[in-house]
Amino acid sequence: MVAQAEGVNVDVDGRDARFVVVSNRGPVTFSRSGSEGSGEREYSRGAGGLVTALNAVLRHRRDAVWIASAISEEDARVAEEALRDGVPYEVEDLKVVLVEHEGEAYDLMYNHLANPLLWFVQHGLYNLPYTPELGDSTKRAWEEGYIPVNENFAEAVARTLEASAQEGEEPVILVHDYQLYMLPLFLRERLGDGAFISLFSHIPWPEPDHWRVLPEYIREDVLRSLLKADVVAFHTHRYARNFARTAHEVLNVEADEEEGVIHTREREVWVRPYPISIDPDEFKKLAQSEEVLKEEEFVKDLPGKLLLRVDRMDLSKNVVRGFAAYARMLERYPDTRGEVTFLAQLQPSRGDIPEYASYARAIQRAVDEINEKYGTDSWEPIVLSMEDNFPRSVAAYKNYDALLVNAVRDGMNLVAKEAAVINERDGVLILSENAGAYEELGEHALTVNPFDIDEQAVKIYEAFNMPDDERTRRAEVLRQTVIENDIEEWVKAQLKDIAAHPKWRGT
Ligand code: G6P
Repeated sequence: MVAQAEGVNVDVDGRDARFVVVSNRGPVTFSRSGSEGSGEREYSRGAGGLVTALNAVLRHRRDAVWIASAISEEDARVAEEALRDGVPYEVEDLKVVLVEHEGEAYDLMYNHLANPLLWFVQHGLYNLPYTPELGDSTKRAWEEGYIPVNENFAEAVARTLEASAQEGEEPVILVHDYQLYMLPLFLRERLGDGAFISLFSHIPWPEPDHWRVLPEYIREDVLRSLLKADVVAFHTHRYARNFARTAHEVLNVEADEEEGVIHTREREVWVRPYPISIDPDEFKKLAQSEEVLKEEEFVKDLPGKLLLRVDRMDLSKNVVRGFAAYARMLERYPDTRGEVTFLAQLQPSRGDIPEYASYARAIQRAVDEINEKYGTDSWEPIVLSMEDNFPRSVAAYKNYDALLVNAVRDGMNLVAKEAAVINERDGVLILSENAGAYEELGEHALTVNPFDIDEQAVKIYEAFNMPDDERTRRAEVLRQTVIENDIEEWVKAQLKDIAAHPKWRGT
């Protein structure tokens, strides 16, 4: 297959490149049916926007391999089989290699280092006068968790490449997200300078002072590793600029923020924004699927106009403040009572981390209070679902009058894009100015400061009361913007830069 990147051919199949994609969360998680787990092997799709997007890119590309962590017990069996047979597992037109990690190391990486610490620092979730409390346990999570898991991944990449190596071919390794920041360094140690390495951060990159919350060894080692990549990629200009500035201030490297280039002694690192997107056709098809049509009956039965949110249950999504804003709207505009329903589709996430478990409880408390205060026999103000029901979310995408995306910070937020493409009611997008999607969609949305509850209350009300012609106009531009900048554009922009990079050109 030859992928076309405007004006350049990047031969990704034969002569030059072998594409390997690496992420912690894989496209699917395997399980066994039956109560004792004795039945057939089954799988369900992985959580989050990263997996959705990579899935759309990699399906049908038989030349690429996707390497991810084995998370469930059945995943571990799949990993062992692949190791024994020396071939990737094929599922839904994807070639997947699952990597098994030592249990405690994975727990330290996932539940103690990547998700609380890096995620919280990069999304600005700490309450700095009190948290985080760093110390020896942080060091242990780094040394005995994050580092070994990243080493293990590097080994798996090297093994996979070795097993599939062909004469005259250079590997292109596309590493994804904050769980794998040390991979560029560990890959260079194994593969040398020839490999083309890109690291895509799907989450915000903070201002330099905020990065300095991390202990010095993490702060510096992560940056040193990232600068072993040829491209460091983000969803927005803001994150790319923050990264260049952070590298300059912390490591004293020469960084050209405007050009998006960092010069180290060894290489030229391109720091670039590529806004991730979706496959609009896939969502249009999904919208007509039987499962979704069935769920639509439930959604259409909800009384009044529909306010919707669809999120992983994550502190960064600002769910509790969203409910507070809705309650304030009900308080301030009594005419809305009984005339609207807020459907919150929240997918459970990272429940073993105490902050997430207590956030889930706070969400439930907020909903109970509001429903208790305003609800009637025939009207439940908030309908909360805390289970994974993707078909229902898609059914709700089609039918909302207003969609609330009020994230504290969010790398991109693909919900805003998915929903815009298939909504059938000219629904209004209420969008946080701190979501990555704001750079592309902000102009056509009602934008909010995620910390301002009164402003959000007013904007929700405004969305419900917007004149029809304005709703139609905004919805149409949103839809077109997403369709024009779809997932293929995201891929093309990256391929184009790989082809233009001095490393690739051999200059
Ligand atoms: C975000 C992150 C991804 C992550 C996903 C789901 O989208 O950027 O790296 O995979 O959340 O989170 P989880 O911890 O379940 O993989």
